Parts: sequence; C-alpha cells; structure tokens
Amino acid sequence: MNLNSKSGSNWAESDPSLGEVILEASVIQNKIRELGKVISQDYSGRSLLLVGVLKGALLFVADLARAIDLAVEFDFMAVSSYGVTTKTSGVVRIVKDLDTDLTGKDVLIVEEIVDSGLTLSYLVRNLQARNARSVQVCALLVKDGMQPPGLDIAYTGFVIPPVFVVGYGLDLAEKYRNLPYVAVYKD
Ligand code: IMP
Ligand code: MG
Repeated sequence: MNLNSKSGSNWAESDPSLGEVILEASVIQNKIRELGKVISQDYSGRSLLLVGVLKGALLFVADLARAIDLAVEFDFMAVSSYGVTTKTSGVVRIVKDLDTDLTGKDVLIVEEIVDSGLTLSYLVRNLQARNARSVQVCALLVKDGMQPPGLDIAYTGFVIPPVFVVGYGLDLAEKYRNLPYVAVYKD
C-alpha cells in the first residue's frame, strides 16, 4: 500500500477497507490529458456531446471536458446497475434520461468503469436508436477480460484487473467517490 499517495485524503488514510492505490491522481490526470488530445483530433471540426453516466462519471466528465479542445456540450444519464453491494444486479434501468435531442449529434458516452459491459451495451444501443450521427464510448477504466465480444470502446484510459475499486467517482454504497485516486476495496 502506498500511503504517500493517500496524503491529502486524511479521512481515508486509516480506512482498513482501502487497499492498494492502483492509479495515483497524477497518473489519472495525465491519461485524461492524452485522451483529450486524441478526442480533440478525432472530432476536429465537429461539435461533440459528452454523455456522462451518473454518478460515477461525474469527476471524469468534468476533467475530460477540460482536456478537450473543442466546443463540447454535456448531458447526463443515470442508470441503475448496482445496488449497495459489489455484485452486478444484471438489470439496467434508466433512472434519469437525457434532456438533449440526439438527432444528428456526435455523441461520446463517458463512463468511469466498464466491468461486465452490461450497462454500456445497453446504453450504446439505446442512444443509437435516437438518430445520433455517431455514438462512441470513452471509458477511464476497463476491467480486464470481463466484456462480451463486440462491445466497442473507442477510448480506454486504463485496463485494470477484475477487482472492485473505489475513488475518482467510483463508490461503495456512495462512499469514496471524492478520492482523487483509485484504490482497491478490500471486503
Ligand atoms: P457493468 O454493467 O458491469 O459494466 O458495470 C458498470 C457500472 O458498475 C459502472 O458504471 C459502475 O458504476 C459500477 N462498477 C463496476 N465495477 C465497479 C467497481 O470496481 N467499483 C465501483 N463501481 C463499479
Ligand atoms: Mg458508471
């Protein structure tokens, strides 16, 4: 465990449930700058709608939007896929829908983590059906080997082992979202 990287998060430092820090804050921010550059090039001359998936993607959308050198709009959706446990429920339900009409828009779904890919597969299909010009995905974290074949993630920040992690938007029962780093959660 790298205690040094937890400095600045005093409340979390002595939390026995927090394990190894797998992505330090500076590592996350550097990666987001890289993603922002690539996205800016790929969508050059177009206007982009970032669709953040609440609540987990909130911090990622905020940082990614500032790393993209284009006129972007944002909108948010909330879906339920996990309850208060660390296991997927297998059910995806739209809890809050977009305010924006997607007709003719270039849409980039911004997700903080892809685990089974269930949520994302559902969202891509759902947004594609709304006459968007394009629908692509940017995921900060992708769990290794967990996704069904055919799920296309255009932009991936980091591939991580299939363990439960918290921080940088990711929670366990709403806790830990405001940590600036990503750490393993120990049951
Ligand atoms: P999926 O449908 O299994 O891909 O799960 C996607 C959603 O589950 C993510 O957007 C997160 O909200 C949540 N999730 C998946 N893995 C983790 C994790 O390791 N920590 C916290 N939340 C997670
Ligand atoms: Mg999410």
